[in-house]
Amino acid sequence: MTTKAPTPASQEAVAATAAALARGELVILPTETVYGLGADATNPQAVARIYTAKGRPDFNPLIVHVADAATAGRYVTLNAAAQKLAAAFWPGPFTLVLPLKPGNGIAPAVTAGLDTLAVRVPAHPMARAVLTQFGGPVAAPSANKSGRLSPTTAAHAAAELGDSVAIVLDGGACQKGVESTIVAVSDTAIELLRPGSVTPADIEAVTGLPVIGSGPSPADRPTAPGQLESHYAPRAALRLNATTADDDEALLAFGPDAPQSAANLSHNGDLEQAAANLFAMLYHLDQTGVARIAVMPIPNHGLGLAINDRLRRAAAPRPSENLHQSLQSELS
Ligand code: TXA
Ligand code: MG
Repeated sequence: MTTKAPTPASQEAVAATAAALARGELVILPTETVYGLGADATNPQAVARIYTAKGRPDFNPLIVHVADAATAGRYVTLNAAAQKLAAAFWPGPFTLVLPLKPGNGIAPAVTAGLDTLAVRVPAHPMARAVLTQFGGPVAAPSANKSGRLSPTTAAHAAAELGDSVAIVLDGGACQKGVESTIVAVSDTAIELLRPGSVTPADIEAVTGLPVIGSGPSPADRPTAPGQLESHYAPRAALRLNATTADDDEALLAFGPDAPQSAANLSHNGDLEQAAANLFAMLYHLDQTGVARIAVMPIPNHGLGLAINDRLRRAAAPRPSENLHQSLQSELS
């Protein structure tokens, strides 16, 4: 397949995206968090293509996207807390990990053999239009090669995976910029598996239940198989909590106390704006060929938890090239 350039959003483009999904092909589609690499979640061959295109280890399960909570209820059981969370945060940047229903029809590779499914109702109008027209569940991880930066523009997604898809649906720059909050729900507690725009305080307010695992590194636990340590990594190395950049570094600034010339996540220290800019600014600094990116400190509260989680993973030691290749071939 040749590399696809982004197609501007239109009714025809939405219809073409839904039709490609129905044929078992891969598509790139916008969501409010990051761009997704979508496939029909009930089609085992289509789902297998996602793992191949991303170079994703097959033990790392996928999120399924649906048009509304009623559709989610065909595949998973929502207890009382899950129903409250769905009503409060769907459509939106929020993913529930819930017990799969028997006879659900989801391809087993989607869940990597787990008896739970991650489901989300995205808010982006183009994603919703595609899901409504397609009518079924769409498995969609972020549209990047495994371990790399998640794309927040159609151009970045096309550069990563445009050669593996039938269409790149351009829905503009993603409004949120970090991936959805992921929680696992039981009757007595909510477990935060990945921090995002919906914060632990938001979740506690809606459910009245404690949110566990919401410390600074909530995702190091085995219940989230995809939370591999090195992730979201640009080619350049990252140095965190920097105040200034050395000669061989580019500065990624935050707040008003930064050199005017530096790329700045948010001049006035707004965490929502910083999250929306995070991956695109890392991507552009990386493209300059700089050896290292020095990142100024980000406050570790609210949405700052999600930003620092992504930065910590981007800065984590990377598996050596050889180790990485042998791991990949062992898993493929
Ligand atoms: O915002 C988002 O969630 C984006 C957009 C495209 O919707 N998607 C996304 O997918 O970030 P992905 O595949 O890059 O990340 C999904 C994460 C992985 O870390 C995976 O391990 C975890 O969700 N996950 C999926 N199913 C799970 C399950 N049943 N139990 C625990 N974790 C699960
Ligand atoms: Mg991802």
